[in-house]
Amino acid sequence: MVLYINACVREDSRTDRLAKALLKKLGEDYIELYLPGENLQALSRERLDKRTELINKGDFSEPMFRYARQFAAADKIVIAAPFWDLSFPAILKLYAENIYVTGIVSEYGPDGMPRGLCRAEKLYYVTTAGGPYIADFSYGYWKSLAEQCFGIKTTELIKAEMLDIVGNDPEKIITDAIAAL
Ligand SMILES: Cc1cc2nc3c(=O)[nH]c(=O)nc-3n(C[C@H](O)[C@H](O)[C@H](O)COP(=O)(O)O)c2cc1C
Repeated sequence: MVLYINACVREDSRTDRLAKALLKKLGEDYIELYLPGENLQALSRERLDKRTELINKGDFSEPMFRYARQFAAADKIVIAAPFWDLSFPAILKLYAENIYVTGIVSEYGPDGMPRGLCRAEKLYYVTTAGGPYIADFSYGYWKSLAEQCFGIKTTELIKAEMLDIVGNDPEKIITDAIAAL
């Protein structure tokens, strides 16, 4: 199963359009998780205490773990997120906080380092940027999470940039990016 994690907030999002073209090219059925439509909760003190208690018991049946279980079980993962404030929309960070559950997506090895438990062979990160795209705090973050913590060995960045620069033709930039998939 391909899991499409859609963090595109704007209507007629160009990032979503690029991601949907990628999904079409992958040619597999996918499940879309539209993050702005989910009621994702930040970890308050109460939620963190409850979560820690459940993790210590090894009880991952609670609904609060459903996103982590879904992420860990996916065969391929496609994340779509526009480039916002040198990073990505906050809803995607909330999602990361919700899925990073020790015992579901990762565990600690004998050396004390995280070891991945996710099934996915590949994670695609799809983004578009108004100006020049800088990967450090967006794709770079997800690449590190995937490879160092989740056990997903391959990641790929799919991007279209300079869309909002005066004089540029955003439609052509997106069409070219789709053609290059
Ligand atoms: C809240 C917000 C923050 C943004 N921050 C940046 C930025 O830091 N750098 C940049 O190049 N473009 C930035 N942009 C422009 C978007 O990256 C660009 O318009 C992108 O294509 C939007 O994707 P979408 O069509 O999928 O919504 C920002 C746009 C918004 C709405």
